[in-house]
Amino acid sequence: MSLAQEAHFPCCALVNLAMGRSYLPLSLFASALLGAKALVQGPWSDREVLPETRAHLLVRNMTLDEKILLLHGPPSLHPIQCTNPTRAECAYVGNVAPVPRLGIPPINMNDGPQGFRGQAGLSTAFPSGLTMAASWDVDAVQEWGEGMGTEFFEKGANVQLGPGLCVARVPQNGRNFEYLSGEDPFLGYTLVKPAVRGIQSKKVIANAKHYILNNQETNRFVVSAETDERTRFEMYYPPFEGAIEADVGSVMCGFNKINGDWSCENPVTLKHDLKEKLGFKGYVMSDWGATHSTSLMRGLDMEMPGAHSMNPELIKAGLGAGTITVAAINESVERILLPMFSVGVMDEPLSTWDFKRLQKNVTTGASVASVRHLSALSTVMLQNREGVLPLPQNKKIALIGLVSSNAIVHAGGSGSVDPSFIASPLFGISSAAGSAANVVFSNGTDINAAAAMALSAEYAIVFAGTLSTEGSDRASLSLDDGCKQCGNQTALIEAVAKANPKTIVVLSVPGAVVTPWADKVAAVLVNFMPGQEAGNAIADVLFGKVNPSGKLPLTFPNVENETQISQVQWPGLPDATKPTYSFYTEKLTVGYRYYDAHNIGFTTGFPFGHGLSYTSFEYNELKVSNLTVTFAVKNSGKVAGAEVAQLYLGFPAAAGEPLRQLKGFHKTKILAPGESENVQLTLRRRDVSIWDVNQHAWRVVDGHFNVSVGSSSRDFRLQGSFVVSGDSTKELFV
Ligand code: GLC
Repeated sequence: MSLAQEAHFPCCALVNLAMGRSYLPLSLFASALLGAKALVQGPWSDREVLPETRAHLLVRNMTLDEKILLLHGPPSLHPIQCTNPTRAECAYVGNVAPVPRLGIPPINMNDGPQGFRGQAGLSTAFPSGLTMAASWDVDAVQEWGEGMGTEFFEKGANVQLGPGLCVARVPQNGRNFEYLSGEDPFLGYTLVKPAVRGIQSKKVIANAKHYILNNQETNRFVVSAETDERTRFEMYYPPFEGAIEADVGSVMCGFNKINGDWSCENPVTLKHDLKEKLGFKGYVMSDWGATHSTSLMRGLDMEMPGAHSMNPELIKAGLGAGTITVAAINESVERILLPMFSVGVMDEPLSTWDFKRLQKNVTTGASVASVRHLSALSTVMLQNREGVLPLPQNKKIALIGLVSSNAIVHAGGSGSVDPSFIASPLFGISSAAGSAANVVFSNGTDINAAAAMALSAEYAIVFAGTLSTEGSDRASLSLDDGCKQCGNQTALIEAVAKANPKTIVVLSVPGAVVTPWADKVAAVLVNFMPGQEAGNAIADVLFGKVNPSGKLPLTFPNVENETQISQVQWPGLPDATKPTYSFYTEKLTVGYRYYDAHNIGFTTGFPFGHGLSYTSFEYNELKVSNLTVTFAVKNSGKVAGAEVAQLYLGFPAAAGEPLRQLKGFHKTKILAPGESENVQLTLRRRDVSIWDVNQHAWRVVDGHFNVSVGSSSRDFRLQGSFVVSGDSTKELFV
């Protein structure tokens, strides 16, 4: 009897397996002896069958030990402490052993959210998550995901530990640069979908992280984020909801606590919220060292990177004590196998996941060209006085600051990637300035010399920036904090601007910065953490080859701590009982929502959603019908360009919502001068709902809603309104 026949009469085999006995059809044993080259044939092999069914059928043919094997990393070795890189356990930043008898591949997982982090020079440094958020461009983000997924696949990695999604609750968070949401949940919700689809289209499982409320690095291993349910569902879950809607295969729980319970053993956020309310079908892995117990029954499915808690001994002890059930083990294993089937990992030959592929240099001309394109698309032009930009060619240009080997292209921690080559601003601008151009440069440490150089040039471009990293928050939003080798950049900018009125500042920064000198310079651009093609991309923008269309994904404040964040809110109060805790007392009033609530104007700062173009746009023909908003965007300038049109919604006052919140946006195609595009933004019932904490569900709000459409959160061109009526108490939904 062939395996297939046996498996179609699986009663005894399956019953035995389910009971943990190891009776198996002979042919499965054979594959174990021979070492399967691919997933062993069985009822789970049929690719026409739903992934959920395939996972279910496979689990039923696994022994208890094989199931438990999938729930943790290598028992003895912490991959980061590995000394022998040729050992499988050492090969990736995290991995789960294969099941040779069944041909289940290893799970090879690697950082990070902006490219394959590993041996320097063997992969591409893509723009960071926040940089891509500045594109407001779903097509660009899909391209970003596809590019990274391709490189992970080529490296033999079948899980990418990204995208990072945490909302930028506090501007100083050291990891804001990694996160695709910026300061707004709807921006994150919308952009995460193409990112996940892009990554997973390359047979690599994406990992939405860090779930949840991991919004600071200070005391990250112990801080408890104290929040209410409505704040979680309306402010912090939406980016993860977007990932779930895109069928993200895995989620990473974080180091912090939520309301006193560790994130990776928190039944409220993991079981009730994530798996029940948000409907997540994949698996929850812990952050590295964030597992504090055998918390399989509390929502954790996989311990990373080792097996201190989710190991055979402790799990079997739990089975014996009745604190762990076989059903729960089966559910976790099915959650792990499901994305392996749905994304295509399981149907690859095992050689695809051979860790020897790590030695490949996976950077290609295509990936480098894409990074250049994506970085240019994500560059935000904050200011352009007297139309100083785009630059003419064949001029004398002084490049000052972080322009050559000191160029900033990525930030620190697990989110960094060291590429084989970095196109510096000096390289990019020298290549683009024209054959008769005269490009001189200084690293800016001697401010007087830099000012003299600026005086002698027709244009002066100061490349300034700062850095941040996982593990600590930024000391301030000043350019003079966070980058020791960058010198006193504020003084440098002011001295250069004094010497040359045509001074342009380019900021490569990991998040919001204060720009007190903005009114002293002609132009300001920000490319955040631009990736390895930074110099070519910024040259494309500066010389007008690419018309900037980026928009700020977070507010650039006028002054430090403009939103009056107290220590109670961040970084939290010290306390003997729970080392620190941060109260999210601001609830929904994060970022631009605070500015609106307190009617704060912008002097030297810049608002959320702001970004200029070399052309101009007119908005007209607004129509609001039910939940559909239509309008036309016209290029009213002289050069082609794309616009990100934004829709902000104002709830009825009684709803207790922020004054306005982003509920729609659309990036037009590149419009020729005089060309128009009709835009339609359709609101969902969800967009006119609030989270009802009594019913634990969304409830549509009755009343008058204000619609503001424009070019930023402070540049509205069209205003409208609509009314929702009817008995909204019946409109409960999840
Ligand atoms: C780190 C980070 C996480 C990363 C993991 C593996 O602590 O918090 O984002 O993916 O460990 O390096």
